[in-house]
Amino acid sequence: MSIHLTWYGHATWLVDTGNHKILLDPFFNDNPASPIKAEDVEVDTILVSHGHFDHIADAASIANRSGAKLVANYEVCQWLAANHSVQEPADMNPGGEIEMPWGLVKMVPAVHSSGLPDGSYGGVAAGFVLTIDEVKIYFACDTALFGDMNLIGDMGIQLAVLPIGDRYTMGLADSVKAAQLVKAKQVLPSHYDTWPPIEQDALAWCEMIRGSTASTPIVLEPGKTHIV
Ligand code: NI
Ligand code: MN
Repeated sequence: MSIHLTWYGHATWLVDTGNHKILLDPFFNDNPASPIKAEDVEVDTILVSHGHFDHIADAASIANRSGAKLVANYEVCQWLAANHSVQEPADMNPGGEIEMPWGLVKMVPAVHSSGLPDGSYGGVAAGFVLTIDEVKIYFACDTALFGDMNLIGDMGIQLAVLPIGDRYTMGLADSVKAAQLVKAKQVLPSHYDTWPPIEQDALAWCEMIRGSTASTPIVLEPGKTHIV
């Protein structure tokens, strides 16, 4: 079985197992980098890493239309259920792992904030490790570099998606450090080039990854797919 991973620009990713579609941090309609709109998306799972608008903007509309199971931290789930009628979201918190129809999702720490668009408290920001048929994919999501990425690396990560945009997350140098800790076979950059403050040279990052880690860097254009 091959897993298809598609980037829709910014921090929005689709994992297609062939039988299931898992969407991370849906941000389409106001995302200048996305080649598609939220209305075009049909999935059965939605993962939301934290409460910021650029990660949660289209989560409720897609969940409510497609009936996808939404997974997020407790506070984000409560807010989406109370304010956007999301039905029975799966709430969790960092450290926890739950079983899904397609495998396992573990919520792991991230160093970032998580306020919701209306100012409500959004709990803590997180990353995710997905286990699909023995393959482990780590989405660091919005985060600074932190040493415990080493522990995430101990899980045996096949592919890691790391932010490189700087300013709100890790930049180039720290994400190369992160790649050294995570030790994934393949690394892909995220959360960059959406707007001028997070513009980055992804090809320079590739050279840094090749020069300083054992990981293979893979850069996608928005809308393009990598087969894991
Ligand atoms: Ni954020
Ligand atoms: Mn963000």
